[in-house]
Amino acid sequence: MKLRFDYNNMMEEAIGKEGIKASAFQKNAAKIAAAQKSVLDNRGKGWQEWCDLPYAPAEEIDELISYCGAIGKKAESFVILGIGGSALGPLSVASALLHLHHNELPKAKRNAPKLYVEDNVDPERMAALLDILDLKTAYFNVITKSGETSETLSQFLILYAALKEALGAEEAKKHIIVTTTIGKGTLYDVAQAEGFKVYGVGKGVGGRFSVLSPVGLVAFAALGLDVKAMLAGAAAAAKSAEEADVRKNPALLTAYLQVEAMRRGKNVSVLMPYADSLKYMADFYCQLWAESLGKAVDLDGKKVHTGQTPAKSLGVTDQHSQVQLYTEGPFDKVVTFLAVDDYRTTVVISDDKDVNACDFLKGHTLNELINAERKATEFALKKANRMNYTVYLPSVTEETVGELLMYFMYQTAFAGAMLHIDTFNQPGVEEGKKATFAMLGRSGYESKLEEVNAAAHDKSYIIG
Ligand code: PA5
Repeated sequence: MKLRFDYNNMMEEAIGKEGIKASAFQKNAAKIAAAQKSVLDNRGKGWQEWCDLPYAPAEEIDELISYCGAIGKKAESFVILGIGGSALGPLSVASALLHLHHNELPKAKRNAPKLYVEDNVDPERMAALLDILDLKTAYFNVITKSGETSETLSQFLILYAALKEALGAEEAKKHIIVTTTIGKGTLYDVAQAEGFKVYGVGKGVGGRFSVLSPVGLVAFAALGLDVKAMLAGAAAAAKSAEEADVRKNPALLTAYLQVEAMRRGKNVSVLMPYADSLKYMADFYCQLWAESLGKAVDLDGKKVHTGQTPAKSLGVTDQHSQVQLYTEGPFDKVVTFLAVDDYRTTVVISDDKDVNACDFLKGHTLNELINAERKATEFALKKANRMNYTVYLPSVTEETVGELLMYFMYQTAFAGAMLHIDTFNQPGVEEGKKATFAMLGRSGYESKLEEVNAAAHDKSYIIG
């Protein structure tokens, strides 16, 4: 594995009684091993089909790269319609690997279509998208694992109608790729009826664990990213999750450290990348950690109301907004830094002789500055006895991003197993989805509508 992990500042030696004793690994060895076994034994089964995604058949990957790559070559814009796990994976990876101002680059330098990830149903956002898109050169990937999500289906209906109007029915079909569960759900039925190109999401691949399935790969291939290198990186992280020695297994180790931290009242997990390219990785992590671990009951049906609230923070930007809270506020957080050894460019701070000030900055690079600031924040947290650890990426590439994604997924699965919960369901989200169907008058949801109406707000508690 190319990623490196420094967890010194989680330990008692570094942060005193707030830290974890080195003897804890030995003391909890049986519990840690049992959690690892329960995850590894279920690889490829039930809701753990995501574990097999790095090993997808070569011919499937080749076909996807060839078809979607060709779409990417003729598209001026590639638009993802999806939400939750059907958007955050593609968004976080594409943001990590494309030029930071990809959409603003001139076409010759961009060498790939502009990317839009539409993960909301704000009417102004949809209108704004329609204002800027040239539908003749726009291609759409409609992604919904269930095939039933109101947000994605409504976006699809609006844009398919617009495409048909602009291009005619036959041509419009060629601008749509659907990613959904084969043989199940409304979107699959529509795709069959309309004759859209369809890629399947495995039955046992949940939304937030689906980034390495066609949910992410279709866009990555269209954008010309190296899909195979990403899968190879993911395979390396999956291999490291098999390591029996917890101190050599980053996903298992950091899952244990987080769960132990939660047990000690650290109810907030902050992910703080020190790289703009990894900014949306924090969104990916937040969904994965929140939806997977935030559960009312454990596997025995006992009420546990467990979970750790994820928070996103960007280094250095949020040093000037959030770090005050992290160093001096309640002792309820673990901060995970994402550090990059080699940024893809070096920018020197000008040694401008006319400016008779700032000598401490002149001649240094922004690379040095951002790393110094990360180390300074880490130092400040350690000095204040706050738990933190750092994941180092040698550089941001397809391979290291693939590793990072798989590391996060295994870490989450191991943490869920340690908490003895169902990591892969999301009953709290489903409730909202059903209430939305009811309020929009979907048939079969009449009793849900009565329930929603019965919960109407009391006017005496409303001002204005
Ligand atoms: O992780 C999950 O399962 C969810 O966040 C889903 O990704 C999200 O609700 C969207 O679901 P779907 O892909 O079925 O439209």
